[in-house]
Amino acid sequence: MSENTPIEMKTKTCAPDDHALRQSAEILREGGLVAFPTETVYGIGADARNGQAVARIFEAKGRPSFNPLIVHVAGLEQAEAIAGFDARSRQVARQFWPGPLTLILPRLEGGGIADLTTAGLDTVAVRVPAHPVARKLIEIAGLPVAAPSANPSGRLSATTAHYVAETLGGKLDMILAGGAAEIGLESTVLDLSGKDPVILRTGAVTPDNLESLLGRVDIATKAVAGEKPKSPGQTLRHYAPMTPIRLNAVDVVSGEGLLAFGSTRFMGVKGGGAATDLPAGRIRNLSECGDLYEAAANLFTCLHELDRSGSERIAVMAIPETGIGLAINERLRRAAEAVEQGV
Ligand code: TXA
Ligand code: MG
Repeated sequence: MSENTPIEMKTKTCAPDDHALRQSAEILREGGLVAFPTETVYGIGADARNGQAVARIFEAKGRPSFNPLIVHVAGLEQAEAIAGFDARSRQVARQFWPGPLTLILPRLEGGGIADLTTAGLDTVAVRVPAHPVARKLIEIAGLPVAAPSANPSGRLSATTAHYVAETLGGKLDMILAGGAAEIGLESTVLDLSGKDPVILRTGAVTPDNLESLLGRVDIATKAVAGEKPKSPGQTLRHYAPMTPIRLNAVDVVSGEGLLAFGSTRFMGVKGGGAATDLPAGRIRNLSECGDLYEAAANLFTCLHELDRSGSERIAVMAIPETGIGLAINERLRRAAEAVEQGV
């Protein structure tokens, strides 16, 4: 080995035979990351119910922000366990699944999908992929698989296992090599969570295909001035709390709730008292031991809970600007600004 040879561990790339599929399913069940082919592009999969596993996806992509992910399932029955279907969405699913169509639907309480997977939204993106390797992996793992396109943030989506290995090798636990992704373009994203169907991202399932079933279907465009931005890809609607947020707090002001990170032993309440004496409903800790993956997994759940706690404001302790901490801080800053601007 020459001195210049990188010693970074390369991720194992396997042909998707039974053994590799079983091993990959096990990796997913244990909270690991598996890149796998779909008919659109390759995805980086993790257990959609496991927030810490999903946090690793964002870190692998080097994405300094949390965007909601698509949950890949084996069929309509599994989709109905996590998303709220009605006659219209059921009809669309029956016609286009398995295939390159993602549906945005109301997220079911108790469906088990991690808050980080949906980035705190009350909707969930679901899709049944058609690629046999993706289908087998989901079936054997027996769990919903959150998977964004397998490319580092800002780079082209991967259509071959080779490209995945080149750009993400070392950051994943396994790459299932299933040949080139046939379509080479991400799935169509159709929002059926509101009254009128809206295409949020165009793809192989075309507006014409959808209109034959649904009647008129709008395609979301960039936010128009004065209008609330509708959606993702271009203009994603983000979860934001209603309660004002104060970042980098070193103490708590009376009336505030506390979003803590690490030990709160030395946090005081202005005017007297300790943060540890706040009513239980007013304090949430992202990670008592200061683990950033745990913090990412808890972020949206904790924000939701504090938002409902009756606090006048949420004080947030400082979170390190490293690794996945960058994405946590980015989201908190955005939430703080959103409340200030009333959006
Ligand atoms: O073809 C595909 O869809 C690939 C393969 C791997 O399945 N996946 C993919 O995932 O392209 P990703 O994360 O790169 O894109 C997901 C898109 C984003 O534009 C995201 O904002 C949107 O779906 N999305 C996810 N959940 C959403 C939600 N609840 N509401 C609105 N948009 C959502
Ligand atoms: Mg993508």
